[in-house]
Amino acid sequence: MSKVIGILAGSLRKESFSKKVGKTLLDFAPDGFEFKLIDLSDIPLYNQDFDDHNEVPEAITKFRTEIANVDGVIFVTPEYNRSVPAVLKNAIDVGSRPYGKSVWDKKPAAIFSNSPGNLSAFGANHHLRQSLVFLNMPTMQQPEVYIAHVNDLFDEEGNMKEGGTKDFIKKAVESYIVWFNKNAE
Ligand SMILES: Cc1cc2nc3c(=O)[nH]c(=O)nc-3n(C[C@H](O)[C@H](O)[C@H](O)COP(=O)(O)O)c2cc1C
Repeated sequence: MSKVIGILAGSLRKESFSKKVGKTLLDFAPDGFEFKLIDLSDIPLYNQDFDDHNEVPEAITKFRTEIANVDGVIFVTPEYNRSVPAVLKNAIDVGSRPYGKSVWDKKPAAIFSNSPGNLSAFGANHHLRQSLVFLNMPTMQQPEVYIAHVNDLFDEEGNMKEGGTKDFIKKAVESYIVWFNKNAE
């Protein structure tokens, strides 16, 4: 049976570059792997009362089940104010509860950060990395994936243009698969 890798893009924007990077990754799934885009748009803001009073919204149960059913995760994050956009942080928080039942636990991860600017969302990348340490997700260290000038990478149809960045991203996915095979339990 194929191993399933969830691709989470930290943006709700229709023309999101992060979503376009995520879509590009689908083509790089090797034999034996299925890459699956996970939609974050319906997840409500986390409220601990949901779990404490057994009133968990259906969209949260659906998301938790989706993550429970993947074997690994690639996070494609943009940067908001030098950190992780709320939509992605919220998804992480939602999946981490109720206490002791985190759906993230032990799933090998990678972080691909991107920005139209020069700094490639370095701040978001490393804030996210900090959460993944606590969530016990073995997270690929090398190569670090910082994608600068992401706005220049796509054609009119939203497909990633051939070139050095696309080649680098493909190689990063290959490294993630090696990482996954070493760290999956
Ligand atoms: C609230 C907000 C804060 C932002 N902060 C940063 C930032 O700290 N660093 C950065 O490189 N870009 C920042 N940007 C610009 C985003 O990189 C840009 O909007 C990007 O396209 C968002 O990702 P997306 O295309 O996946 O939606 C910010 C954008 C918004 C809306």
